[in-house]
Amino acid sequence: MFANFYQDWRVLVHKGRIGTMENTDRLIVALDVPTTEQAINVVDSLGDLVQYYKVGMEAFYGMGHAVLAQIAGRGKKPFLDLKLHDIPTTVARTVTTLCQFSPAFLTLHAAGGSNMLKAAIGAAEDWAGKTSQPRPKLLAITVLTSIGERDWVEIGYQSPIRESVLRMSVMCKEEGLDGVVASPREAAAIRALCGPDFLIVTPGIRLVPEEQGDQMRIATPSQALKVGANYLVVGRPIVAADNPREVVASILNDMKASGQ
Ligand code: C5P
Repeated sequence: MFANFYQDWRVLVHKGRIGTMENTDRLIVALDVPTTEQAINVVDSLGDLVQYYKVGMEAFYGMGHAVLAQIAGRGKKPFLDLKLHDIPTTVARTVTTLCQFSPAFLTLHAAGGSNMLKAAIGAAEDWAGKTSQPRPKLLAITVLTSIGERDWVEIGYQSPIRESVLRMSVMCKEEGLDGVVASPREAAAIRALCGPDFLIVTPGIRLVPEEQGDQMRIATPSQALKVGANYLVVGRPIVAADNPREVVASILNDMKASGQ
């Protein structure tokens, strides 16, 4: 299955449907920092090298939505990673509230189930219809890249992580989500099942395995692109570096080397 998929994938790349984006438009830097000052320092120091910034729980709870305006004010695109997971009505109302901050992407947990996903996409589309503004792209978290097989069994899941990720991805596609956040290890199979237009965003990206930290399922930038990721999320290797620009340049080089 993987061999067939890989061939199909190469055909799509050659037809120009995929792989035409600039690498600077495919790297998302996770701004996992506690203060606006630190966040803005990172954005300013990376300048034109990066267009997307991921604002997660730490930044959003600590700084509020003002940080999104700061990012947008610098011509950058915010990726709002709040990993929503609640009853459908609560998630739908939250999506409506968050749409007004115009994030490029918004995340929610696929584990919230198909009714929650349906409610979320419905709310985003209603908001777009009422305001005539583009809605954020909705991405579902499948299984966190920090979760290993042992953790997965411990929580009570019986099918292997890979099978669960694939099942969740198909459910998300059927409910009309724009894509998923998943480990590079599962990206090729998701691509094969969900088609060329379904977005795959992969965290767990490391240039060197020694920087793995709490991530269990990691890959290099070029490996992630080769298996079909549209966007890569990188946090600590960039944000905690002495010279973040140098790390981003190495990541962009590695992305380029993938030929994708
Ligand atoms: O620092 P690091 O590169 O590991 O950051 C990865 C980022 O991606 C973190 O902000 C984390 O919350 C997020 N993420 C993840 N795994 C997922 C979904 C999101 O690591 N499955």
